[in-house]
Amino acid sequence: MEKLTGLNKIKTAVFISGNGSNLRNLIKFSKIKKTPISINLVISDVSEAIGLKYADQFNITKKIFNSYNIKNTEKKILILLMKEKISFICLAGFMKILSKDFIKNFNGKIINIHPSLLPKYKGLNTHHKAIANKDKFAGCTVHYVTEKLDSGKIIMQKKIKIVGKDTSISLAKKVLKQEHKLYPAAIIKIFN
Ligand code: GRF
Repeated sequence: MEKLTGLNKIKTAVFISGNGSNLRNLIKFSKIKKTPISINLVISDVSEAIGLKYADQFNITKKIFNSYNIKNTEKKILILLMKEKISFICLAGFMKILSKDFIKNFNGKIINIHPSLLPKYKGLNTHHKAIANKDKFAGCTVHYVTEKLDSGKIIMQKKIKIVGKDTSISLAKKVLKQEHKLYPAAIIKIFN
């Protein structure tokens, strides 16, 4: 029997490439009463992405696009998104850069979580950079996705203190914990 919950929720796709802890967290968030979203599709560009198991676990349609020819692949993804009536996309550790044309189709409807206090440290190795620069604070940011990497309008940010014994590994763990709070909060902020 089809569940009645979720019928009026915003149909969302989550794009991943790796562990999928944010995906798992968003799926959990999509099950609570106050959530504005339902997660109907998981897309990965990596066939071995660990996070894909959460799609199986929660019975969510998943699709892997691992031969990544930007033009063709994005076309196929768009067709799938239309078929599944997706109107919102959450990038969660997705390691490919979406093209301008793709983003145009979902203008203002794609968000990303990034493990730094943007605009500081766009791109990779954010924790390493924060430690190397002896920063006092690190954190994470949820932002809209535009054609410029990690540069879209900031929706929400969470700042945490870097302590003397922190390494990039301990910092990544601490920040990830905050990411799991921030991503749902940012989605609530968008739709309220
Ligand atoms: C997170 O740190 C996220 O901010 C970054 O990639 C990582 C993904 O982690 N974009 P996970 O796959 O969600 O566990």
